[in-house]
Amino acid sequence: MEIISKLTGCGSYLPQNVVTNSDLAKKIDTSDEWIFSRTGIKQRHYAAVGENTSDLALIAAERALSHAGVTGQDVDLIVVGTTTPDRTFPATAVKVQKNIGCVRGAAFDVQAVCSGFIFALSIVDSMLKTGQFKTALVIGADTLSRLLNWEDRTTAVLFGDGAGAVVVQAVEVDTRSRNEDGILSTHIHSDGNLENLLYCDGGPSTTQTSGFITMAGKEIFRHAVTNLASVVMEALAANNLKGSDIDWLVPHQANKRIIDSTVKKLKMPKDKVVLTVQDHANTSAASIPLALDQAVCEGRIQQGDLLLMEAMGGGLTWGAALARWG
Ligand code: ACO
Repeated sequence: MEIISKLTGCGSYLPQNVVTNSDLAKKIDTSDEWIFSRTGIKQRHYAAVGENTSDLALIAAERALSHAGVTGQDVDLIVVGTTTPDRTFPATAVKVQKNIGCVRGAAFDVQAVCSGFIFALSIVDSMLKTGQFKTALVIGADTLSRLLNWEDRTTAVLFGDGAGAVVVQAVEVDTRSRNEDGILSTHIHSDGNLENLLYCDGGPSTTQTSGFITMAGKEIFRHAVTNLASVVMEALAANNLKGSDIDWLVPHQANKRIIDSTVKKLKMPKDKVVLTVQDHANTSAASIPLALDQAVCEGRIQQGDLLLMEAMGGGLTWGAALARWG
C-alpha cells in the first residue's frame, strides 16, 4: 500500500466590487482596447476597504470544505499562498485556521507570488505523502489591488483580487495504481537572479511599507513563455504523457497571449483550456484555484479528468502540477 494525495473539493470567492477597463479609463490614461488587445482582460474585482486577504481566503476555504464534505475539525494542515497577508506576521493561514474552527495540525503561508498556489500544492502533496497529515486546505488568496501604483498604468490595469481553495486528502492505495489517481507530480523552480524583473519596492525590513508593484513587462512576458513551456513539458515527460492526454489546462491567468503560447506548445484544443483572465484579471496565487472552481461548478471539469496546472510569478518562480480531479 502507498499514500497518495487526492483533490477532493474546491471553492472560491471574488469580492463584489467589479471594475471594468472602461472604469479604469476614467481614472488613468488607458482604454478598453489597449488592455484587452494586449492581455485579454475585460474586468477585475477589488476587495472593499476592510475586506482583507484572510476574509477572501476564509470564504473560499469554507466553500471547498463543504464541497469535499468535510469540516474545519477534519483539517490538520493549511497552507496559504499569498503575497498580500493581512499582517506582516503571523501567517494568514493561522487566521483561516482559527476561523474554520480547526484546532490541530499546522498552518503557514508560502510566498511564491503568482506561483504561490502551485508551490503550496507541491508542499502539501509531499507532506501528505509522509503520512503525518490527513486532510489539507491549499489556498491561493491575494489582494494585489493594495499594491497597485496608479502612476504606472502598465501594471495598474493587470491585477485583481480573489481567493480559491482546494481540499487535498491523503488516501491509501494499492502501489500498482499509484500513478492513476490524485496528484501525479508537481514541479517547482525559482531563479533569484531575475528578482528585479518583477518586485514590490517595499517591505518590513527595508521601508517598513508594503510598497508598489514594479515590472519589466516585455522581459516578464518572454520569461513566462519560455519557463511555462519548459515546466509543462517537464511535467508531461515525468509522467510519460503528451499534451493530447490532458483533459484540461488550468493555467495561471496573467495574460491570454501567454496562455495561448502554452496551449500552442502543448498542441491542445483551445476548448480544453480554462480561461478566466477576461473576468478576473491577474489574481496572483488565487488565479488557478479560482479558474478550477469555476470550471468544476460549471460541470466542465468532471471526476477523473486529468488536469495540468501551471504558473509563473515574481522571484522569478514557476511550476506545474498534474492531477486527476476528484
Ligand atoms: N494603457 C494605454 N497605454 C499603455 C498602457 C495602458 N494601460 N500601459 C502602457 N501603455 C503604453 C506605453 O506607454 C507605450 O507607449 P509608447 O509606445 O508611446 O511609449 C505602449 O503602450 C507600449 O508599452 P509597452 O510596455 O511596450 O507594452 P507591451 O506591448 O509590452 O505590453 C504588457 C505591456 C501588457 C504589460 C506586456 O508586456 C505583458 O503582458 N507582459 C507580461 C506581464 C504580466 O503578465 N505580468 C503579470 C505578473 S507575472 C505573471 O503572472 C506571469
